[in-house]
Amino acid sequence: MSANALYTDLSGYYDLMCVDIDYRAQSHCIHRLQQIFGNGGKAHLDLACGTGPHVRHFIDAGYNSSGLDINQPMLDRAAIRCPEARFALQDMCAFTVGEPLDLVTCFLYSIHYSAGIGRLKECVVSVHNALKSNGVFCFNTVDKNQINSELFVTHTAKQDDSQFVFSSGWNYCGAGEQQSLRLSIEKTTAGETQVWHDEHPMVALSFEELQEILRPYFEVHVFEHDYEKIIPWNQTSGNAIFVCVKI
Ligand SMILES: C[S@@+](CC[C@H](N)C(=O)[O-])C[C@H]1O[C@@H](n2cnc3c(N)ncnc32)[C@H](O)[C@@H]1O
Repeated sequence: MSANALYTDLSGYYDLMCVDIDYRAQSHCIHRLQQIFGNGGKAHLDLACGTGPHVRHFIDAGYNSSGLDINQPMLDRAAIRCPEARFALQDMCAFTVGEPLDLVTCFLYSIHYSAGIGRLKECVVSVHNALKSNGVFCFNTVDKNQINSELFVTHTAKQDDSQFVFSSGWNYCGAGEQQSLRLSIEKTTAGETQVWHDEHPMVALSFEELQEILRPYFEVHVFEHDYEKIIPWNQTSGNAIFVCVKI
């Protein structure tokens, strides 16, 4: 099943799946980073915006936000959450914008959906073209050399009469430029359980390789993956927040 089909099928469950994510803290942290490194402007685009939770927080913080995703059912939900925002059905590896932007974000490791290094480079070029001078591109990412394929994050949630168990984890074989994100959902209603398993192809690269791709276009700052505090990357963590300022 393709990534698109998965999110078409699951767009109705997506917010439940992400119920433990602190979207407010993530959005606020990136807002602070943009104040420190950016041009102070408010024109914002969220790549792979899904159902629009970050767009909501950025609008509430005074940004003129918009969102882009390849999945229309996700965008339909985003439009209900953020009626004042513009949403576009576009591929983040080949997008264009009408007006230049001050801030481009990409949350929840979604940059890895570019699925290969060639497409990731196209995404970086699209973002660079879309930004104003001193515009900022922020995203979170994982280093392929630090992936623990044994680790699964699981949480449960209730909706109506059903109980859900959501699990996700990275899988990297240790070679090449592709890893996968494995997802599973168990839905139990009246004692009967249905299970979905899916695997998304994602791009795999080291932070060193990623910085090399970004450097011709951006001044790159790397931070610990902590949305509560702004801490420079300790050079060893496998998850990080990248803040890239257009040069
Ligand atoms: C894990 S969800 C993240 C959604 C949102 N950023 C969040 O933090 O909740 C990944 C999203 O990426 C979108 N996506 C996957 N490949 C994409 C692409 N090439 N261009 C734009 N969006 C893409 C999917 O449709 C999905 O909505």
